[in-house]
Amino acid sequence: MMKIRNADPKDLPDILALYNHAVRETTAAWTTQEETLEERTSWFESRQLEGLPVLVAETEAGSVAGFASYGSFRAKEGYRLTAEHTVYVDPKVQRQGVGRTLLKQLISTATAKGYHVLVGVVDGDNAASIGLHHALGFEVTGHLPQIGTKFGRWLDLVFLTKVLDEKAPAPER
Ligand SMILES: CC(C)(COP(=O)(O)OP(=O)(O)OC[C@H]1O[C@@H](n2cnc3c(N)ncnc32)[C@H](O)[C@@H]1OP(=O)(O)O)[C@@H](O)C(=O)NCCC(=O)NCCS
Repeated sequence: MMKIRNADPKDLPDILALYNHAVRETTAAWTTQEETLEERTSWFESRQLEGLPVLVAETEAGSVAGFASYGSFRAKEGYRLTAEHTVYVDPKVQRQGVGRTLLKQLISTATAKGYHVLVGVVDGDNAASIGLHHALGFEVTGHLPQIGTKFGRWLDLVFLTKVLDEKAPAPER
């Protein structure tokens, strides 16, 4: 059984390894620059300081099979009820439900915290991520053709959004 829990500083090397693998091998992150443990640690500390979730999926053997988090979508306060999330799953255990479990928990956490919209921002060719988001009720609400490049090709950017509470009235200001 997979356990979803809040990440701990001791998980950061595993989180870093998952991210850096995606940097080297995929278009999930549009950079070829791998991160250092110091950079991942300061990312984690600022998420902690802001009260933002960093979740990990832990296997029965105690290893980290994936992580998920969300943070600010854009800085101005009008965007404060929207968060942008990411999910990374160890390639060795993909398509076994880990991503779904992590993203479901992130949706519950964001809903409980009063967020109104979650946004996933992915490569238009990332069938796994688009499939995962569709499976959890996200819709493609933006498509920016050829807006990035990596591995010698143009990349389309796709925005996948989910309104968490359709009935919520907008704040007065
Ligand atoms: C995208 C990602 C997080 C999906 O995680 P996962 O654990 O492999 O996905 P799950 O097994 O939970 O799949 C849930 C659903 O997503 C869809 N899905 C997952 N992988 C898919 C694929 N390769 N093609 C099409 N649909 C896919 C399916 O609907 C699946 O349900 P099903 O298996 O019952 O058909 C994972 O592939 C990953 O880490 N990729 C690299 C990093 C990345 O691209 N992250 C997203 C950027 S935010």
